[in-house]
Amino acid sequence: MKALQCVELAGPEKLIFGEVDDPKPKAGEVLVDIKAASVNFPDVLMIQGLYQFQPPMPFIPGAECSGIISEIGEGVTLCQVGDHVFVMAGNGCFAEKLVVEEARVNKIPKEMDFPAAAGLGMVYGTSLYALKQRAQIQPGETLLVLGAAGGVGLSAVELGKVMGARVIAAASSEDKTKTCLAHGADEAFVYPSNNLERNQQKELSNKIKELTGGLGANVIYDPVGGSFSEPALRAMAWEGRFLVIGFAAGDIPKLPLNLALLKGCQIVGVFWGAWTAMFPDENKKNFEELFDLYAAGKINPEIADRFSLKDSAQAIAHLKDRKAKGKVIIDV
Ligand SMILES: NC(=O)c1ccc[n+]([C@@H]2O[C@H](COP(=O)([O-])OP(=O)(O)OC[C@H]3O[C@@H](n4cnc5c(N)ncnc54)[C@H](OP(=O)(O)O)[C@@H]3O)[C@@H](O)[C@H]2O)c1
Repeated sequence: MKALQCVELAGPEKLIFGEVDDPKPKAGEVLVDIKAASVNFPDVLMIQGLYQFQPPMPFIPGAECSGIISEIGEGVTLCQVGDHVFVMAGNGCFAEKLVVEEARVNKIPKEMDFPAAAGLGMVYGTSLYALKQRAQIQPGETLLVLGAAGGVGLSAVELGKVMGARVIAAASSEDKTKTCLAHGADEAFVYPSNNLERNQQKELSNKIKELTGGLGANVIYDPVGGSFSEPALRAMAWEGRFLVIGFAAGDIPKLPLNLALLKGCQIVGVFWGAWTAMFPDENKKNFEELFDLYAAGKINPEIADRFSLKDSAQAIAHLKDRKAKGKVIIDV
């Protein structure tokens, strides 16, 4: 089969596209003919050796995909040949075929197309868990989303609206904020694309306070980190929840804890992957909810950019270079 391979830990330019052996399912595993895959920020980190989980070398990158089951191993009971599925595999998805344990496979409704299914799992799964289980966001509360036009960011904008919040989207360009407004954000503003200087940090806090009538945001969704987290936390409402999602800006911020005291707020860690492993049934329920929302037209994954499998290294570079809006899809 054809696949993208990581043979040394480096940037996307060092990935190699070519022929590798076809995988065969063992007991408890299924073979998926991949139809579409999507790029996530962890793919960018994993090929450089910067992610918390690292597969042995060489490996095929790509955390998630959708496709059709074409073969099942001994003892598989939950899936059948012909099932349309999406898979959270961790890696291995930028290829024509994937072998995976049946527990990692989720059936998709027949009306959902493969690109949409490939782009839904990680980002909407993360954001629903973050807003529902972790923040317990309430109707009428204000949700501020940083990096709001990115994969997880845009899903948080849509789910925040579904859950009755007033959503403020923040992103690094006018074009990105337009995408956020098109996906339902009530307000959107542009922040600088560079690491924020002291005065720019103050401006960011002031902007959030201005848009929340001086009260601050009840829930802050932060997939960016770096110099953006502290000014956002300074604009947190009393008893707010600050959701630690990720560090796309590169640096892991160190936050002054007096801010948590002064605002009576919570700093809440969100590690969706670990939660899905500990509470698979809860996660399945969340996905049923997401499929219902999709069928009702209430969530609508943004697929702004599509690449062929042959060009999947460019697709990873596209996300790494901050050019992506919503999901980057690879058509296999
Ligand atoms: N906690 C969890 O369970 C979980 C699950 C999935 C993903 N994540 C994390 O969430 C973060 C975002 O993932 P994603 O897949 O949504 O990525 P993405 O689509 O690339 O979005 C990331 C956003 O971060 C902003 N950003 C700021 N500085 C950046 C920089 N130097 N390089 C790249 N982007 C930068 C960009 O928005 P602007 O240009 O508008 O600033 C970009 O749209 C990652 O850190 C990822 O590891 C966490």
